[in-house]
Amino acid sequence: MVERTGPGLRLLAERRGFRIGTCVSILPLKNDPEYARAVAREFNVITPENALKFGVLSRSRGHYDFSDADALVDFAEKHGMQIHGHALLWYAQLPEWLVNGKPTRTELIDILTTHVTTVVGRYAGRIASWDVVNEAIATDGTLRDNVWHRIIGPEYLDMAFAAAHSADPKAQLFYNDYGIEATEQHADAVYELLRTLRGRQVPIGGVGLQMHLTLDHLSAVNRLPSMLARLADLGLPVAVTEFDVRMKMSGHPTAEQLATQASVYREVLRSCLTAQGCSTLVVWGFTDRHSWVPHFFPNQGAALLWDEEYQPKPSYHALAEELMRD
Ligand code: G3I
Repeated sequence: MVERTGPGLRLLAERRGFRIGTCVSILPLKNDPEYARAVAREFNVITPENALKFGVLSRSRGHYDFSDADALVDFAEKHGMQIHGHALLWYAQLPEWLVNGKPTRTELIDILTTHVTTVVGRYAGRIASWDVVNEAIATDGTLRDNVWHRIIGPEYLDMAFAAAHSADPKAQLFYNDYGIEATEQHADAVYELLRTLRGRQVPIGGVGLQMHLTLDHLSAVNRLPSMLARLADLGLPVAVTEFDVRMKMSGHPTAEQLATQASVYREVLRSCLTAQGCSTLVVWGFTDRHSWVPHFFPNQGAALLWDEEYQPKPSYHALAEELMRD
């Protein structure tokens, strides 16, 4: 049972005009009543964790199955929540037919434009913001060698944002990356990419900092204020888009691990609340019962705000306290 602990993050966030969100997975939303109740009570924005990804939507060329995405958008609208669409162009979770199809440059430009126009157009006026391009910078700071870059060239980014803007001129269009928590070099490269895109009048309206952290990422947390200030100089709103703080597990987390985790959550939220142009923080899942982390990082987990029994952790209370502070 999700313990009622005070007014909840959503009410605290809305009192100060802040967006607090979580990614949402369709299976627990359908099958776990506690999950659905917590999402509606604690958050005012949701990001579909997988339902809007190219490979999930279109398993054969020219065909789309929007049933899961529609269910998530309907849920959000029913509960007065905003939706952040994720992710139109990425190098992962692409359709098999595209990966194996070896399209020419002209064909891939058509695939890109058709995909972005189809998906953004379907939810025009309903999905407020989109991750248009996700993780285009490689960890060495260069433009990642993905299928879009390899076949089309760097202008694939311009094309993606242009298609999204045409399909829904009111949507806020984000570039999303794990830049800041990777390395200074990666963070600098993300900044340079954004500066270049803005210089080319690409209709980019925000930047998402994923913030998939560990207990050892205090350097990334310390870098955040200066990164946010630099991005503010570009006139780009910033959102923390995929925040979680994983830890090495041997049994249950220790009190010390939970306390360190809470301080990381607190510092990131505080940096966002005090920075110019940062008005959104989305956690990448909210209960340790449903988290991507254990599936991708063996012997790691406990990254989120509630434990597997939906009991609030110190990180939940840290966010609530920060949202209550003047
Ligand atoms: O839906 C299928 C299911 O039918 C099948 O039985 C099962 C076993 O193969 O796989 C299921 O799909 C999985 C999907 O999550 C839904 O659970 C995919 O294998 C799995 O790869 C996918 O993982 C997602 C991952 O992105 C893919 O890279 C995670 O849920 C998701 O949290 C994660 O999120 C990404 C962001 O989109 C971008 N930033 C990084 C972040 C973490 O990787």
